[in-house]
This record gives sequence, C-alpha cells and structure tokens, in this order.
Amino acid sequence: MVTPSAPFDRTLVPAALLDLDLEAVAAEFGTPVYVYDEDTIRARCRAYVAAFGPDAVTYAGKAFLCTAMARLVAEEGCNLDVATGGELHVALRAGFPPERIVLHGNNKSDDEVRAALAAGVGRIVADSHDEIDRLERIAAELGVTPAVLVRVTPGVEAHTHEFIETGTEESKFGFTVSGGVAFAAASRVAASPTLTYAGLHCHIGSQIWVLASYARAVEVVVALARELEQAGVTTAELDLGGGLGVRYTAADDPEPTVAEYAAVLRDAVAAARAATGLEADPRLLVEPGRSIVAPAALTLYRVGTRKEIPGVGTYLAVDGGMSDNPRPILYGARYEAFLPSTPDAPRDLTCTIVGKHCEQGDVLVTDAHLPGTVGPGDLVATPVTGAYGASMASNYNLVPRAAVVFVRDGRARAVVRRESLDDLLARDVEGAD
Ligand code: LLP
Repeated sequence: MVTPSAPFDRTLVPAALLDLDLEAVAAEFGTPVYVYDEDTIRARCRAYVAAFGPDAVTYAGKAFLCTAMARLVAEEGCNLDVATGGELHVALRAGFPPERIVLHGNNKSDDEVRAALAAGVGRIVADSHDEIDRLERIAAELGVTPAVLVRVTPGVEAHTHEFIETGTEESKFGFTVSGGVAFAAASRVAASPTLTYAGLHCHIGSQIWVLASYARAVEVVVALARELEQAGVTTAELDLGGGLGVRYTAADDPEPTVAEYAAVLRDAVAAARAATGLEADPRLLVEPGRSIVAPAALTLYRVGTRKEIPGVGTYLAVDGGMSDNPRPILYGARYEAFLPSTPDAPRDLTCTIVGKHCEQGDVLVTDAHLPGTVGPGDLVATPVTGAYGASMASNYNLVPRAAVVFVRDGRARAVVRRESLDDLLARDVEGAD
C-alpha cells in the first residue's frame, strides 16, 4: 500500500540523538537498544523542580530505573519513588540518599517494609489496613517512627486507558474517600504511636491529558484534609502522584507543559482550601515518571524481513518486539518510526512494524510511514520509548534483553549492558555449566 505522508516529525526526537551516528551506536551496542539523551532527562527533571520547588519532585522509578538513572535523579535534586524491594535495592546500591526515597506498593511484604525502614527511607505510602498493621509492627521492632502518607482514591476518572487509571473507587490502590474509609485510615495513622502522619497521597492514573481530572481529585483530597483538620489531624503534605501525558506521535496534540500542570494543581489547591476553609497549607508534592523519561529515548532495531501480503499490506519484522516494548500489545499504544540514515526522506510506504515473537499481536508500530525502499539490514528507530519499555521488558521466547545507552556531549555509553545468551541460563539450577 502506498500512501503519501507528511515528513517525519523531528520534534519527537531529542536533537542530540538525531545528530548522533546511530548506525555506530547500533554497531557498538547491538540491536535492539534503548538510546537516551541524558540532557533531555535532566532538562525535564529541572523543569519539574523549577515548577514545584526543591524537594517536591519524586521521580517514579517504575518508568525506568537503573544505577545511572538513580544517580542522575539524585544529581538533579529529585526524590525517588520505589514500588518494590527490587527498585529499593537498585536505588540504595546506586547510593541514592534513603531519606529522599518514597516507598510505594499495594502489597509491600514484611521484607520490603523492613528493608525500607532499616535503610531509613523518607516516606512510606500506606495502601491498606493490613499494611498499616505491618508498618506498626516492624517500626516498633526497629524502634523507628516512619513518616507515612495515606494513599486515597478520590473517585475521579482520569480519561486514560482503564489499565492505567487508578483514582476510581474500584481501584485496587489505596483507601476510598467515600464512606469515610480514607478518613478512618488517616486518623488511625495519626493516632499511631509508631507512625508519623505526613499527609495524603493520590495518583489518579497515567498518560493524562485532561488536567481538569487533577483539579477534581484535588477538591476531594483537600476536603478530606479539612475533615481531618476538624478532627485535630494536620495534613502537612499533599502528594498528587504522577501521570502527566506525553506526545507519542505527530498526530497527538501538544502535551500540557509542566508549568501548566503545576499551575492547575496550585490553583486547584488554593480554590479548594478557600472552599473548604482548610487552614493548613500543605506542601504540594508530585511523582512524575513517564513525562521525565519517555521523550528522552528512542529504540533502535534492525529490520530482518519485509513481507508483502497481497490485498493486506506490508509487514516489516525487526529484531525486538513486545519483549522490549509491550505497550502496544498491552494498551494499544501508538508509536512512530523513522530511518535514522534518512529521517527526512519521503515516506511513501505505510506498513506494520512487527517483532520477532511468536504472537500475532506482537506489533510495535501500526501504520508506520517509511521510505518505500526500506528492507532487510536497515536500521529503524521508534521515538518516545523511554518510559515503561526497558522497565517492563521481558525475556519472552528467551530473547536477551536490550542494552540501555545514555548519550551526553555526543558520546554514547552503556548504562545497562545487553543480556548475553548465557545470562538466560544464569538462574537455571541444572545444566547451566
Ligand atoms: N506515582 C504512582 C503511585 C504511580 O503508580 C505511578 C505510575 C506514577 C507515580 C508515575 O506515573 P507516570 O508519571 O509515569 O504516568 N505501564 C503503564 C503505566 C503504569 C503507571 C503505573 N504507575 C504504561 O506503560 O503506560
């Protein structure tokens, strides 16, 4: 199928990556490979810190984390959200200051809680009564009084994919505000001899474009803070989670800026304080993940085969797929593709870029526009793949996971090496020698 198409939109890629010899990067580190522009990550951290203030921005490590990323986040003055003992382990081994770590998770194990408390993490976000029991027991055992944020679900729609919408009442996360459930949980933490009530937390979802959704969540959470205040409990911090959307394709509208997002949150808090009479002026915290890393990276693949199916279309198969980017198969996520050797060449071919996995749904890009000459041996890049790609990567079909490369001052260095075939045997108890 041949359809004329607009030129590739260069604004989807950090300029520093377009200027780089990506063929050389692919040759050095193999494909697939995630390539991050370090300055873009840093600039995005700085935009958040400028908009929300020092110590108010907690990078959500689930979007992408490794030692180098943890160090970068620390250097940029952000805190770090870890959702598991694994993320905590990497953060601590990277030397991330424990007092700047926030521990999340809707089912933290005894071991995870113990490791976090022993390390002295700055805040723990409580998600259930069973967990508050666990926190109290382990805090007493260790003789510490950790700062606790109580996660609440305000019952608002975030207008995003249902799998990544977390603020509705049916959500598995947190305590519902309705029915007094969240009020009871916060009161319990405030009254606990072993826990220190720091405030309320709410994360309504991810890839959010409708900023009004945040404003509605703020109304509910501030009203709860006021109810608590009237009962003698002061909410010092309001953590409004992450979720700001990013522009994945040229067809998407421009994304809301961090400054716009900050203004909406601040205005909503001010309006809700005025409306409810909340006397406390809680510190506003946020936890961005995707909007810091997604646009900073592209993924490079090598084309292996091109197949024309008469009356159907063209498949281009690359050497990765749902193992390095499961977002299309999980959420129907859309991406673009371009050829780094000729990003501005006319794109007269519409095709489907598929991976090498044994699943028909293993699609990376639907309706990719590429030069009609594309074929085996060509290098293809998918931009805006810095979030929830490497972090959700799998070894499906025993494919070794890709390397992660950071680029700075025109120099590319691996921060996570590519897995070897022997790595695939590393956990086998028998026959690995
Ligand atoms: N805070 C909490 C408590 C979260 O659960 C999340 C994301 C964030 C912050 C960061 O949200 P972000 O700024 O990245 O939207 N795998 C899905 C996204 C799952 C998001 C999970 N929680 C995806 O690929 O779209």
